[in-house]
Amino acid sequence: MAAEAMLEDYHSDDKLDTYTSVISDRNIPAVAAKYFNLYACLPNLRDKTVLDLPCGLGIKARRFISEYGASKVVGVDIVQKQLDLSRQSDVEAGVQDGRIEYVCHDAKVPREIFQADVCVAAHLFCFAEHFDELLGIANCVYMNLKSGGEFCSISCSLGRESTHLIKEKLETFDQRVIRLDEWSGDVRVPRKMASTIKGFKFEVCVWDYEAVVMALKSAGFSRVELVPYKADPEYSGPYNLEKYMKMIDGQVVMAIK
Ligand SMILES: C[S@@+](CC[C@H](N)C(=O)[O-])C[C@H]1O[C@@H](n2cnc3c(N)ncnc32)[C@H](O)[C@@H]1O
Repeated sequence: MAAEAMLEDYHSDDKLDTYTSVISDRNIPAVAAKYFNLYACLPNLRDKTVLDLPCGLGIKARRFISEYGASKVVGVDIVQKQLDLSRQSDVEAGVQDGRIEYVCHDAKVPREIFQADVCVAAHLFCFAEHFDELLGIANCVYMNLKSGGEFCSISCSLGRESTHLIKEKLETFDQRVIRLDEWSGDVRVPRKMASTIKGFKFEVCVWDYEAVVMALKSAGFSRVELVPYKADPEYSGPYNLEKYMKMIDGQVVMAIK
């Protein structure tokens, strides 16, 4: 799987419209489960500085300012086009100048960008194709947090079941699986998966939690904790959310520098 293939849909206007409609649809289990748990586990953001990595279209960044009282958000993404669209949406939403800034950067490459109190990541580890890239991401997050800073990330693992079983299960939740690697038996090797949800293609690398924890600890995080997903009590979609969360083995990854 080439890195460009993983990012293909994030460069296209039409596909980005599809992406926006997918992540706004709380009836889709992948959306309902993941975003509810991310927001439920966030540390207090009031008057804090936040690194949103990757920020995509800036949807979370705007919420961190308007609903969670963050003093400033720096959004980082590898696709410049999304940052341009984010800036446009910030203006339309009336976000005060300077409260959200954007930086185009590849999170796999550790670099000092901004010293934040909190780093929030939705779908970050899944863009590392090799263990050294996972280490790169962990180091990038670590070096952009203040001492005592907190990291909060939604993640899933798919477990170690056989491909055909996982494929069958995911398809009952409207996620069409195009390709999925078998479990290799080595936690340092991710299972590459290509799937579509309502027309948007997600090309990702699914990591075992052991690898994620290993990478964060090796970057220097003092405490790393996994918090199993809980079901949103307000979810009223047509799917069995508990069953879905069990299948993706959803956990929020929390760490302290
Ligand atoms: C599924 S989207 C999630 C966006 C956002 N976090 C959200 O919740 O809406 C994944 C994002 O990761 C970005 N991305 C992929 N690889 C990256 C990398 N190596 N460094 C920074 N951003 C990356 C993509 O461009 C895309 O915007």
